[in-house]
Amino acid sequence: MFETMDENISARPALFLGLESSCDDTAAAVVACQPEGQVEVKSSIVMGQSNLHEAFGGVVPEIAARAHAERLDLCAANALEEAGCDLQDVTAIGVTAGPGLIGGVLSGVMCAKGLALGADKPLIGVNHLAGHALTPRLTDQIAFPYLMLLVSGGHCQFLIVSGPDRYHRLGGSIDDAPGEAFDKTARLIGFGQPGGPAIENAAAAGDCKRFSFPRPLLDRAGCDMSFSGLKTAVLRSRDALLAEQEGLYPQDQCDLSASFQTAVADVLAEKTKRALTEYLASAPLQPCLAVAGGVAANKQICAALQQVSEALQVRFVAPPLALCTDNAAMIAYATVELYRLGQRDDMHLSARPRWPLDTRQPSLIGAGKKGPKA
Ligand code: KG4
Ligand code: ZN
Repeated sequence: MFETMDENISARPALFLGLESSCDDTAAAVVACQPEGQVEVKSSIVMGQSNLHEAFGGVVPEIAARAHAERLDLCAANALEEAGCDLQDVTAIGVTAGPGLIGGVLSGVMCAKGLALGADKPLIGVNHLAGHALTPRLTDQIAFPYLMLLVSGGHCQFLIVSGPDRYHRLGGSIDDAPGEAFDKTARLIGFGQPGGPAIENAAAAGDCKRFSFPRPLLDRAGCDMSFSGLKTAVLRSRDALLAEQEGLYPQDQCDLSASFQTAVADVLAEKTKRALTEYLASAPLQPCLAVAGGVAANKQICAALQQVSEALQVRFVAPPLALCTDNAAMIAYATVELYRLGQRDDMHLSARPRWPLDTRQPSLIGAGKKGPKA
């Protein structure tokens, strides 16, 4: 899998500990890098916090940060125990150093610094988005360069990934991320959180043609997307129904869900076609589209993306859901790749609320579950 092997990695299986705390999941994982280069996930612990935020209708940054600070040590200890090793066996410690909710990121960085200093191990700061973007190399050993569509509750962007530290952003959402649109739409039509699975379930029994919702930005060239108008369109249709019949019937919820989901799938499919065309222009040897993020769990969306890829003879890779949503195995794996590149951080490593992967592009604007888009 690797072109050249680092001495430390080639001598024996090397273990890497990863920590993740940029949003509402406290996570720790250990991956093992075998002498021949294969990487295996030894443990991946994710401690969710949905119950802590439920009453507030969204993630409360202060509550999240406190919960991360309280649980990270335990989470790391559990990950090491499940992997059958202790801190001294680890080659390096990687931690999400951004982008994300700053209190949570800080908790992770402080914890990792403590562990690295205490055990005298190298410390590596990892971009959370790089963790997502490199996951298909962990699960499917795909070669650079590949096209990545990151679709979660906090992010939405197309990236050409040419190396662990080489990203070219082709476009992204200029406002809400798709998962955020699913969550907000679910709230509007009376479903709980997370909204994605609730809408997908209801959509299965709905008529996707009953409401004609917009397909925002399809008339604009390029790969940028917008999802906030779609949510407003759902709001208008819901209000019209409420005015007409003084309530929403289950069939209305299903039809609104199906129409909304189809609109999101159409936009993502069309923009993916454009992004693939741009990516293919660089004549990659083994063309591949990979997805990551919670929205990749959506069957209609995944099928639409697969269809677009197949039509252009591009391999389509969707890692298992547990590695698509926030987790620390992806951070531990990114740590392996960055370690090989020679990245080492020290006690000056800072936590960054924003950290675009492609620094040559202007930042994406928008709110998102994790604050300003990276
Ligand atoms: O990647 P993730 O676990 O967390 C971050 O946002 O970073 O993604 C969670 C998002 C939520 O907005 C959730 O509603 C959405 O992914 N999601 C889905 C589905 N499952 C989760 N969206 C559409 N369809 C689904 N089946
Ligand atoms: Zn994420």
